[in-house]
Amino acid sequence: MATHNLLLLPGDGIGTEIMAEVKKIIGWFNARGGATFETDEGLVGGAAYDAHGKAISEEDMAKAMSADAVIFGAVGGPKWDGVAYDVRPEAGLLRLRKDLELFANLRPAICYPALAASSSLKQDVVEGLDILIVRELTGGVYFGEPKEITDLGNGQKRAVDTQVYDTFEIERIARVAFDLARTRKNKVCSMEKRNVMKSGLLWNEVVTGVHDREFKDVELSHMLADAGGMQLVRWPKQFDVIVTDNLFGDMLSDIAAMLTGSLGMLPSASLGAPDAKTGMRKAMYEPVHGSAPDIAGTGAANPIAMIASFAMALRYSFGLVAEADMVEKAISATLDKGLRTKDLMSEGMTAVGTTEMGDAILAEMEALS
Ligand code: NAD
Ligand code: IPM
Ligand code: MN
Repeated sequence: MATHNLLLLPGDGIGTEIMAEVKKIIGWFNARGGATFETDEGLVGGAAYDAHGKAISEEDMAKAMSADAVIFGAVGGPKWDGVAYDVRPEAGLLRLRKDLELFANLRPAICYPALAASSSLKQDVVEGLDILIVRELTGGVYFGEPKEITDLGNGQKRAVDTQVYDTFEIERIARVAFDLARTRKNKVCSMEKRNVMKSGLLWNEVVTGVHDREFKDVELSHMLADAGGMQLVRWPKQFDVIVTDNLFGDMLSDIAAMLTGSLGMLPSASLGAPDAKTGMRKAMYEPVHGSAPDIAGTGAANPIAMIASFAMALRYSFGLVAEADMVEKAISATLDKGLRTKDLMSEGMTAVGTTEMGDAILAEMEALS
């Protein structure tokens, strides 16, 4: 079987702690034989800024470009609050997404059976939840120009961010969402704010057009994004696939995370278009959460979002479906046994740390293999 080249970018804060658990899993696959992985490691975020004064070096960008997949931890933290805007830690993540053209960000929110009582919402609202947020990742207000603060000279400043979407950007993310819906419950809900934004109007029109021309068999509905946020906490099981823009997708996925018990549970896959010749797509796998400065260094971080992101790499980059299933089943079995990191704790349970959780998942993988 092939060896796959991975670039690991742990980043900052809990990024390095959760990446250590993925390294163990990669080591386990390599020791077992079958699918194997060669890994290289780079710096991103504050760690890269400290080393080179940039949020990612050209050398690490080149490595990311040529890797079969990038596995990304998290970036940011108060240490870098004062650094210049274009070299702040988050700029490294945004450059990776933009330069690798990772326009499709898949954020599944699955409530594992053992965690139905861990959500801040009522158990029957989240039990059995399995939804997928498809977030557009390389456009919208994150990248639109102008993006600036100007001094108006009268003691006032003006900040401008620009929301821009072209037809092709909406079409390609809509196709990803409809294609994925066909492998699930065949339903897509598109969220925008066409009532106040021109980009919302175009979004709605283009998604509808792609649907009517190419995906008539998929059920399509539309929701204003603010109402969508409300519906996500009212009755999330009404959704199957949600497709939305970069900023709404960011916010809606943090909301969806709490349906699963914790932000520490939500993985993601950031995918480019398949290459016309090889069919391979550039990809980066990143938990939805950040560097969690409030718990960094305490060994309390939940590694599940990171490990589940690696499972998504197995599934989406390498077609290793059985291996991906095994990692996900091992996560579920570990939770079934009552192991919880602090973020998932409910009364009467004792918390385990990051490494204990990683070790327990590995032990379940061993048992399943
Ligand atoms: P955050 O996601 O880092 O943390 C929010 C809350 O969730 C914190 O209380 C944190 O302890 C908790 N949390 C997050 N992940 C957890 C995990 N795996 N286990 C247990 N608890 C977890 O968001 P924030 O505090 O708003 O941002 C902190 C920094 O992270 C900022 O610099 C932000 O820009 C950055 N950030 C980076 C990414 C990324 O690298 N992909 C994503 C989001 C935020
Ligand atoms: C995420 C994060 C990033 C985003 C930040 C760190 C740039 O919040 O991946 O959800 O806003 O996309
Ligand atoms: Mn976010």
